[in-house]
Amino acid sequence: MCGIVAAAARREVSEILLEGLRRLEYRGYDSAGMALIDNERNLQLHKQQGKVSELEKAQQLRPVLGCTGIAHTRWATHGEPSAVNAHPHISDQRVALVHNGIIENHQLLRAELLAQGYQFSSATDTEVVVHLLHRELAAGRSLLEAMQSTVGRLEGAYALAAIDTAHPEQVVAARRGSPLVVGVGIGENFLASDQLALRQVTDRFIFLEEGDVVLLSPSELQVFDSAGAPVERTRTSISEAVEVVELGAYDHYMLKEIHEQPRALAATFAQAAGREQLDECFGPGATEVFDRVQGVQIVACGTSFHAGMVARYWLEELAGIPCEVEVASEFRYRKRVGHEGTLLVTISQSGETADTLAALRNAGEGEFIGSLVVSNVANSSLVRESELVFLTQAGMEIGVASTKAFTTQLVGLLMLTMALGRRHAMSPEKQLEITRALQALPDYVRQTLALDGAIERLSDAFIPRHHALFLGRGIHYPIAMEGALKLKEISYIHAEAYPAGELKHGPLALVDNDMPVVAVAPGDELLEKVKSNLEEVRSRGAELFVFADQQAGFVSEPRVKVLSMPHCPEVIKPIVYTVALQLLSYHVALQKGTDVDKPRNLAKSVTVE
Ligand code: F6R
Repeated sequence: MCGIVAAAARREVSEILLEGLRRLEYRGYDSAGMALIDNERNLQLHKQQGKVSELEKAQQLRPVLGCTGIAHTRWATHGEPSAVNAHPHISDQRVALVHNGIIENHQLLRAELLAQGYQFSSATDTEVVVHLLHRELAAGRSLLEAMQSTVGRLEGAYALAAIDTAHPEQVVAARRGSPLVVGVGIGENFLASDQLALRQVTDRFIFLEEGDVVLLSPSELQVFDSAGAPVERTRTSISEAVEVVELGAYDHYMLKEIHEQPRALAATFAQAAGREQLDECFGPGATEVFDRVQGVQIVACGTSFHAGMVARYWLEELAGIPCEVEVASEFRYRKRVGHEGTLLVTISQSGETADTLAALRNAGEGEFIGSLVVSNVANSSLVRESELVFLTQAGMEIGVASTKAFTTQLVGLLMLTMALGRRHAMSPEKQLEITRALQALPDYVRQTLALDGAIERLSDAFIPRHHALFLGRGIHYPIAMEGALKLKEISYIHAEAYPAGELKHGPLALVDNDMPVVAVAPGDELLEKVKSNLEEVRSRGAELFVFADQQAGFVSEPRVKVLSMPHCPEVIKPIVYTVALQLLSYHVALQKGTDVDKPRNLAKSVTVE
């Protein structure tokens, strides 16, 4: 989703801005731009539809140079992807501004500014902000004051950064609802929507808080809170080696990340090693909170929501703890009735998903006994704002379609089930059984990865199709949902998941010889029921693809293709089967020639509602 990079230095910064944008590319975007103040105090601008490489080409043809600048990758919300709608937006050739988020009252503000003679060149919500800022500057305010009064007019979510030719050394920025971090340099300062963009220039960061406004120049760095009072925010050193993410021998990041799962899963569970209490993996204070837990409310979006759905089965079946799961965009706006002793668990790979963050923030006073986030990004907003934290050890995930982040979330949630379960219905024997299963998990995943060739052969049948049905029962229903989501995201084939028992209540009407049906049928106690459901499908002429335990008694026959999965402990089957479904989607997408790592219209980190 949109990315911001900004710099106030005494050296030329265009290459720093471009490198920052390159580092944010994986998040998904459709246009890019940058503006700098040159040494004659003029604004210089490049905006391009498409990749950052297009911006680089424009920069090679006509270099724009300067020591103060802002840059942006845009993921269209208001107005189509185009060079005109790309940021920065400009007012009066004087002020340039970039924005992440959505300004909800932009129509009202636009009408007000039009009436005052401002002209608009784009269809974006953002352009109102640059004109508002200009209006304040033209009234004689300083850059800081102008930003402070501008944000007072805005409703919605934003991270903003702006420059003004009348203040050529300064960058002003503000955040509410979208992340922004200051990179502290020596005799220079930077700003970005994600610290990753700035690791090229510094390892010292200030994560801005809600409502903060910041003024940067090479020699000054002043932060003001939402009331306008100067504040000192904590400086964080991120000194661990910058994670170098390269494709290596793989054709796509998604494939690489699928293959990284044995390591990532092992690293995630290894956090329990050598600890007296599993509680310690969830941060200081976990024991105190966990002792009081009577129920769990999980809130998440997309793939992370599917992880939550799997966790509900674990928490209720293995730990005997009531659990509700809800998508964040619904949860946040719903009137809710709290249950005593409920722990709020958010799940978010990025830790920045706007709806999930809003759900955490609007949890009512006393509604929950505490909040826990399962995330892959230390220092993300959800991590900073939650009381308890479980960090998955997936390593950076570049592919937009989540793979290793999802399976490591499941490991974290199974560990949570054990930590809570020992206080409820889980016996020490069961805990030992789960521990052994988690220790063996990387090996079962390796065995599944070895089925790549067989899965690739299955994928052929999906290429000419426009639809696919995924079926699962019990804990494997969310896995069917995740399989369907992966297929639709990266191959653009419409795929739906159903609990297999729901088939004859509607979806069976869709089933014919043009509808491939994928069944997640690991061979648990629901096996016989799944088999009957599959008969219903087969007798309507559908081609069946059954992912089943090698001991489940399924055999391939005409129009039934069986993928024999490793025989592994029940509890980890959702994780192991996910890996096979990830490979299926990957091979279908590969053959269809889609952009596997950056599927159209999608973003890695969804920082708007
Ligand atoms: C799908 C996918 C998305 C994310 C969702 C939530 O492959 O990646 O559905 O799971 O946007 O993102 P996080 O987990 O960052 O909150």
